[in-house]
Amino acid sequence: MSQTETRPRGKFVTFEGIDGAGKSSHIAGAAALVRGRGLNVLTTREPGGTPLGETLRELLLHETMHLETEALLMFAARREHLERVIEPALERGDWVICDRFSDATYAYQSGGRGLDRVKFAQLEQWVHGHLQPDLTLLFDLPSSIASRRLAAQARRLDRFEQERAEFHECVRLAYLERAAAAPQRIRVINADQAPEAIKKSIQETLVTNCL
Ligand code: TYD
Repeated sequence: MSQTETRPRGKFVTFEGIDGAGKSSHIAGAAALVRGRGLNVLTTREPGGTPLGETLRELLLHETMHLETEALLMFAARREHLERVIEPALERGDWVICDRFSDATYAYQSGGRGLDRVKFAQLEQWVHGHLQPDLTLLFDLPSSIASRRLAAQARRLDRFEQERAEFHECVRLAYLERAAAAPQRIRVINADQAPEAIKKSIQETLVTNCL
């Protein structure tokens, strides 16, 4: 492509799901598929993705705080992430694959914690009123299975992972409600399958919707 030709804006793809749904392990495969089509891809995560965002992530995952502080810090980290990483990449024509975005705030802070989602609609409008993911892959599976997967991991669980099974079931239901309200954008992937079958669903969904 010549220097004067402008590349089309990149696609913004997010991965979502309850803790233990296994989404993170499939992000590299999805990025490889997109790269295989000759496109640049940046993979990143929330909360996090910038030096400040990663510092906020540490606090969010391990420090006790007021529930509204938690929600506001998620959006503060997101603001920084959009400004420094996501928007510049999309402008350059790169794809961005992000492990969680605002659907997670609706699912966890509203569905799980019980905060009023009307407040999040206002924050969302403020922080990224002009931008929504082009595609969201929602990894869905019963919270009982996700909890068993988490319990089998030999590492310290964070504040969210330590929540009771009912919390995770509320998060799951909130995710599914959002998927039902935006079926064009949010595609549900059955995460209760063998890894190869999940990989195939992801590939089909990306190819059908974005590639
Ligand atoms: P994640 O990176 O998926 O965790 P892990 O590295 O353990 O796979 O997400 C970190 C946690 O942050 C996860 O439990 C969900 C939570 N979270 C929210 O509660 N709200 C949000 O807006 C976001 C982005 C994440």
